[in-house]
Amino acid sequence: MSKTYNIAVIPGDGTGPEVVAEGIKVMNAVSEKAGFKVDLTYFDFGGERYLKTGETLPESAIEELKQFDAMYLGAIGHPDVKPGILEKGILLELRFKLDQYINLRPVKLFPGIDCPIKDKAPEHIDFVVVRENTEGLYAGAGGVLKKGTPDEVAIQESINTRKGVERCIRYAYEYCKKRNKDNKLTLCGKTNVLTFAFDLWERTFYEVAKEYPGIKPDYAHVDAITMWFVKNPEWFDVIVTDNMFGDIITDLGAMIQGGMGIAAGGNINPEGVSMFEPIGGSAPKYKGQNKINPLAAICAAGIMLEHLGEEKSGKEIEEAVMKVTANHLKSLAAGKMGLSTTEVGDLVAKYVSEL
Ligand code: IPM
Ligand code: MN
Repeated sequence: MSKTYNIAVIPGDGTGPEVVAEGIKVMNAVSEKAGFKVDLTYFDFGGERYLKTGETLPESAIEELKQFDAMYLGAIGHPDVKPGILEKGILLELRFKLDQYINLRPVKLFPGIDCPIKDKAPEHIDFVVVRENTEGLYAGAGGVLKKGTPDEVAIQESINTRKGVERCIRYAYEYCKKRNKDNKLTLCGKTNVLTFAFDLWERTFYEVAKEYPGIKPDYAHVDAITMWFVKNPEWFDVIVTDNMFGDIITDLGAMIQGGMGIAAGGNINPEGVSMFEPIGGSAPKYKGQNKINPLAAICAAGIMLEHLGEEKSGKEIEEAVMKVTANHLKSLAAGKMGLSTTEVGDLVAKYVSEL
């Protein structure tokens, strides 16, 4: 009997469905070779459904999704829906309710890709950001007083719990050990100003470090890290940080690896169900044109398979993507690839089958 993985697929909005279709094409090619099956169940969560029903996530969704081996997400965001509703009501709700407390975002420059930083090549840009994914400024703590008056007060609090910080830091040490590249873990914080939150992070970071004598603990302030990403990205191996800083630095990370067209990540609950996504968004202006770059979604599928234990297949997807970037793509940008969305998917699937 071959193994079957039950995957919940949320194609979502904009170009989400197009890129997800290519990811599934590639997954099918790799699974056929490796002898496992993926059983897909589609969910229509997203902007269209919200506009029709007024509902972001139905009440039953979370319990239903917990039954799957993993989730595969396209994009959430619709031009006719006020910003914040779908992001908070769907994406953040899924991350929080499924306790996907890690946001894992590899930053890797693939061959053949134009890096916006002069003199940097694939050997210089290959690190992973472990972003805390359920706390910090994203927790939604705070409130407003005297709204709309000259005395208005707006408070947005960063929540950092010992448990939340420690489990994230532990995950990062474990990940760094398993990755076994430079065996260096950098805490990205702001200990010189955020003296409550990052005191907790820093103490926890160095306490847990004692359990990992093979890993070199390292520290950088978040403002400085944005400078180093541009100047010396080769310094980094694994970076661990809070939710807001992680959000910001991974957009910069995506740019130095060639853009949103290639950046993928996983929202991970190591004890539960995890969700994998391209981090680029719904790109409504390219919807339905067969122009969007599906590589980020394809890479997300690869990360998902690795997470499920199909490490060889995950690696093969990455290798196949590298062949496409090295030999076929004119650019990573939508409409400028020199190939259509479906052609890029076909090529990756072909290379996967040949590997
Ligand atoms: C991301 C996105 C989300 C975030 C938004 C859409 C809520 O920017 O996945 O990085 O801020 O986490
Ligand atoms: Mn972001």
